[in-house]
Amino acid sequence: MPAYMQSPDVAKRKPVTVPGLRAMKARGEKIVVLTCYDASFAAHMEAAGVDVALVGDSLGNVVQGQTSTVPVTLDQMVYHASLVARGLSATLQVVDLPFMQFRDPATALAASARLMAEGGAAMVKLEGGSEWTCEVIAALASHEVPVCAHLGLTPQSVHKMGGYRMQGKTDDAAARLRAEARAVTDAGAELLVLESIPAALAADITRALPIPTIGIGAGADCDGQVLVCYDMLGITPGRRPKFSKDFLAGRGSIREAIAAYADDVRAGRFPGPDQIAG
Ligand code: KIV
Repeated sequence: MPAYMQSPDVAKRKPVTVPGLRAMKARGEKIVVLTCYDASFAAHMEAAGVDVALVGDSLGNVVQGQTSTVPVTLDQMVYHASLVARGLSATLQVVDLPFMQFRDPATALAASARLMAEGGAAMVKLEGGSEWTCEVIAALASHEVPVCAHLGLTPQSVHKMGGYRMQGKTDDAAARLRAEARAVTDAGAELLVLESIPAALAADITRALPIPTIGIGAGADCDGQVLVCYDMLGITPGRRPKFSKDFLAGRGSIREAIAAYADDVRAGRFPGPDQIAG
């Protein structure tokens, strides 16, 4: 991190590592995750003690103003990841593989190499839990690429799903999600994002797996929580998701808002009864 971004008042933190995330789950410590797209926000997240900064392809929505994440390119993800990397030192950086960049093992390996070598990613994230996705996860894991899987509402599938809808509501859909969660874990995923699924299902999956789960609209019983940082600051124009909360309201700075989010996740206060899962 360049010196001008370092906060003199912030104590040096122990770096968050991939095995460290599993240790946090074992100790029952909640994992604090926020999306991040540039160096200044990264430096604030670093100073506020966020565990994981996710360079999400949600940047397509909140930075680029696209209607979905589908148009986001690998070059754009590498660019934003490299900006975020300059703002971080102890916070772990996870970066999304964009649409079609994990369609087969060779493509996923080449894209991950760029996200790690040029973008500074410590882990890559990909959506889905099908058989072929598990083959891709296994290929990445066997090449020392840590993988975060993402199940439930997977925004890159918006056209197939016909909109952004809660997933896993029927018994069949819940059983499918449980099986996919087990399959991505067995394939070698080290972390699992669960998006917009019933809280009870997310709690069951979390209990069943050795790897940590990170919830977004998935209730309070996941091992950690993630929000799109613009939603968490209440600066997303238009409608904010019901499972989100404006942490900037009533606070004096972005740093304080991020620190309040981190405190609330760690204390199990977020999500609360007002933040509806799904
Ligand atoms: O792209 C993203 O920001 C994400 C999170 C919402 C989990 O995938």
